[in-house]
Amino acid sequence: MMGAFDEKLKIRAEEAENIIAKYIPKPDGHNNHLLDAMSYSLLAGGKRLRPILMKSFFNLFCGKSDAVMPFMAAMEMLHTYSLVHDDLPAIDNDDYRRGLETTHKKYGEAVAVLAGDGLLHSAHEVVLEAFGMTEDTKVIDALKIFSRKTGINGMLGGQSVDVFSTGSVVSDDTMAYIYEKKTGALIEGSMMVGAALAGASHEDIDKVERIGACVGMAFQIEDDILDLYGDAAVLGKPINSDTKNNKKTYLSVHGLEKSRADIIKLTEEAVTLLDCLGNNDEERDFIKDLFDYMVIRSK
Ligand code: IPE
Ligand code: IPE
Ligand code: MG
Ligand code: MG
Ligand code: MG
Repeated sequence: MMGAFDEKLKIRAEEAENIIAKYIPKPDGHNNHLLDAMSYSLLAGGKRLRPILMKSFFNLFCGKSDAVMPFMAAMEMLHTYSLVHDDLPAIDNDDYRRGLETTHKKYGEAVAVLAGDGLLHSAHEVVLEAFGMTEDTKVIDALKIFSRKTGINGMLGGQSVDVFSTGSVVSDDTMAYIYEKKTGALIEGSMMVGAALAGASHEDIDKVERIGACVGMAFQIEDDILDLYGDAAVLGKPINSDTKNNKKTYLSVHGLEKSRADIIKLTEEAVTLLDCLGNNDEERDFIKDLFDYMVIRSK
C-alpha cells in the first residue's frame, strides 16, 4: 500500500513528466534521428528528482508564476545529458540506464555524443521561455544559477575531475570537490532556481545552496552504496560500475558504517537549515520527507 508521501511523490513526478513532455523539442523532418535519441533517454523515466526539488523550493517560498515550468524541463534535460555522456565507453562505459540500454548501445556512440549535446543546447533554449512569465529580474537570477551550476564550475567541472582522477589516489579535498560538483551542483541548482523564481532573498538562496550541498553529498554517497549493494533490476543501471572503473569512492575510502553515518549527519544538517526557511509549512514537511527518500533509497 502507498503511504501519503509516496502518493504525493507520484503526483509530483507525473507533473514533472508532463512538463518535460511539453518542452521536448519537435523534429523538423531532417533532425528526426537526433530528436529520437534525445527523447529516448529523456523519456526513459528516471526519478525526476531535480524538477521535483525545483518545484518544491518554488512552493516553499510561495512562488506563483509558470516560469518554473521551463526551468524544470531544462534541468531534467541537462541532467539527462550528463547521464548520456557519463555512460559513454570513454567515461563509465555502462550498458543500461533507467531500465533501458544506454543511448550509445541503442544508437551508437556518435549519436549518443550528439544526443547529449542536443539535450544540453535544448536546455539552454528552453529556459529562455521563462521570459514573459514572471519579472525579468527573477528569470535573470535563475539563469545565472542555472549556467553556473551546470557548467565548468558546476556539474561539468566535477565530472571532469572525476574522470581525470579515476584510477589514482584521490585526496579528501579532491573527493569533496568531485561530489560537491558532479552531483551536488545540479541538486543545489535545482533548489536555488526554484527559490530564485519565487523571489527568495539572496541571503535565503545562499542557505538553500548549503542545504543542496548537504543533500547532494548524501545523495552521491548513497549512489556509491547502491553501486555496490543495490539491485541492478531495481536501479535500472548496472551495479559494480565504480569497481569496474577502479574508481575511489567515498564508500571505498571510508567504509559502509561511516558512509551511512555521514549520510544521516548531512541530512540532519540540511533539515536544520530548512527549518528556518520559507513560509509554506506543508511544503517544508514534504521536502523533509523528500530528503529522507533521496538519501536512503533502493533506486
Ligand atoms: C544519477 O542520478 C546520477 C547521480 C548523480 C548519482 P539519479 O539517481 O537522480 O538518476 P535518475 O534521474 O533517477 O535516472
Ligand atoms: C554521476 O556519477 C554524476 C553525473 C554527473 C552523471 P556516477 O557515474 O556515479 O552516476 P551513475 O552511477 O552512473 O548514475
Ligand atoms: Mg561517472
Ligand atoms: Mg556512471
Ligand atoms: Mg554511481
